[in-house]
Amino acid sequence: MESFKSSGTHTKQAHVKIPKGHYEEEHGRKGFFGRVSHLYHQNPLTNWTNIDGDLKPRNLPPVFDLPELQENDQCFFYNNDVRINMGTFSKTVENYLRNADFDEMYFIHEGEGRFETVYGHIPYKRGDYIIMPRGTTYKIFVDKKTKLLNVESASEFEEPDRGMLGPNALYDQTAIFTPEAAYGSEQDKKEYIVQIKREGKMTHVSYPNNPLDVSGWKGSVYPWRLSIYDYCPVNSHRYHIPPSGHTTFVCRNFVVCSFVERPLESSEHGVLKVPFYHSNIDFDEILFYHQGNFFSRDNIDAGAITFHPQGIHHGPHPKAFEKADDKEWTDEYAVMIDTRYPLKRTEIFEKLENKDYWKSWMS
Ligand SMILES: [Fe+2]
Repeated sequence: MESFKSSGTHTKQAHVKIPKGHYEEEHGRKGFFGRVSHLYHQNPLTNWTNIDGDLKPRNLPPVFDLPELQENDQCFFYNNDVRINMGTFSKTVENYLRNADFDEMYFIHEGEGRFETVYGHIPYKRGDYIIMPRGTTYKIFVDKKTKLLNVESASEFEEPDRGMLGPNALYDQTAIFTPEAAYGSEQDKKEYIVQIKREGKMTHVSYPNNPLDVSGWKGSVYPWRLSIYDYCPVNSHRYHIPPSGHTTFVCRNFVVCSFVERPLESSEHGVLKVPFYHSNIDFDEILFYHQGNFFSRDNIDAGAITFHPQGIHHGPHPKAFEKADDKEWTDEYAVMIDTRYPLKRTEIFEKLENKDYWKSWMS
């Protein structure tokens, strides 16, 4: 069924001039890429008084400084396509690493250091995404305490199709850093251990030489780096661009989007400035809050994660509507991971989560 229909109160343009006293719901397919309808409700969709069951919106407050996250990384959500981990590293971890299960994306929330890889060295700092192809041998050298988000993917991280925006949109090819061939800096150790992960189990292989001993490389598989601060958002003052407009990496059955500082839509044109209510019916949504003032949600601090499963609505907190009126700019930076199939929550998530988050929409 493809044909467009309409009935009763509706607007000429989605998210613009929403009828007074009404709340717009977006009911869409395929994330934000498919067919969509807008419904005009008399009450906010998040006006619940109780939720009994598994679809509660979830929130993990910032946990980087808790003992559980020290010198370790931990998985918080997973399904067959993706695992979402977080960790804090205050010093260089002893072993060289190789992930034979997943491609990896690191997002540096805080810290400085470098990834030494078989392809060469990649310095990192706050705001960097590092894409590490499966099978790459590397070691993380920590110069300043590092808090990171690590996303393991069963498929490769690919660049989004820019379509009619052209190849320089979102991020330019020159914003991408690729390493030059270089040897590992550690040369005086008796033993170098490569820790290989396969089917979730670790195998440790010892070498008398540094395994990062490559004199040169060529080809189309290599690690690379992109800073969230080089990400250029697509904007319209006339219409709230859906999250899919901020897609940064595409994987099989999930996408990674970057929300970055940007001018807000124009009040003059009656454009909704806060995210519209939607039930994200085909995707689960993880949002990692990196920096700034997250004005559409109450009491969310940098380093926190929210989880909104498919099937139940989410959208702005009640106060965000009032605050949005006089805001012209948002300074928020966040990383979104939208997954096609349901995510499972781990024990450590359930131990550390803010169990009252779902109540935060209740006035
Ligand atoms: Fe969403």
